Amino acid sequence: MCSKYSQLLLFIVCCNIVVAAVFSCTSKEHKKATKSDQYFVQGKVLYEVNCSNCHQKNGTGLGRLYPPIAKSDFLDNHFEEVICLIKNGKEGELIVNGTQYNMAMKGITKLTDLEIAEIVTYIYNAWGGQREAVEVKEVSSVLAGCSK
Ligand code: HEC
Repeated sequence: MCSKYSQLLLFIVCCNIVVAAVFSCTSKEHKKATKSDQYFVQGKVLYEVNCSNCHQKNGTGLGRLYPPIAKSDFLDNHFEEVICLIKNGKEGELIVNGTQYNMAMKGITKLTDLEIAEIVTYIYNAWGGQREAVEVKEVSSVLAGCSK
């Protein structure tokens, strides 16, 4: 009787551990997903206001004038430079997916570090890309090191 009781107790304790472990895992995942969803949604709005008149809503760019952002190899290879150019602008020759562009993009200086984190999260995930939410502190530290 006694041993049966302690077996039952052990069983209950084990169950609780398993349930707690599973629950804490899923709630952590959930938190992460919510943050990148939130950044993505905000970033989409900011992108459409600040960027889409040149790069277009769907990120395709416009002819030889404005380079594409969707599926751009420049995005894949220049994460930090993308953050810098959003804030500080860029001019001179630039090659995206084998096509040369040479116009100037003015920096959008009014954007806060948080807004840049949201925009970058959006453009790196909107068109088939996959990247975790970009942290504000990451944006701030990249911006501090931009060569103007
Ligand atoms: C007035 C038009 C204009 C606006 C608005 C604009 N851009 Fe650009 N963007 C350009 C041009 C032109 C270039 C190419 C610059 C060069 O040739 O050196 C460029 C280059 C880029 C590039 C690097 C090349 C590529 O396509 O991968 C990225 C990334 C980019 N812009 C993102 C943005 C984002 C994000 C915003 C909004 C926050 C934005 N741009 C707003 C015109 C614009």
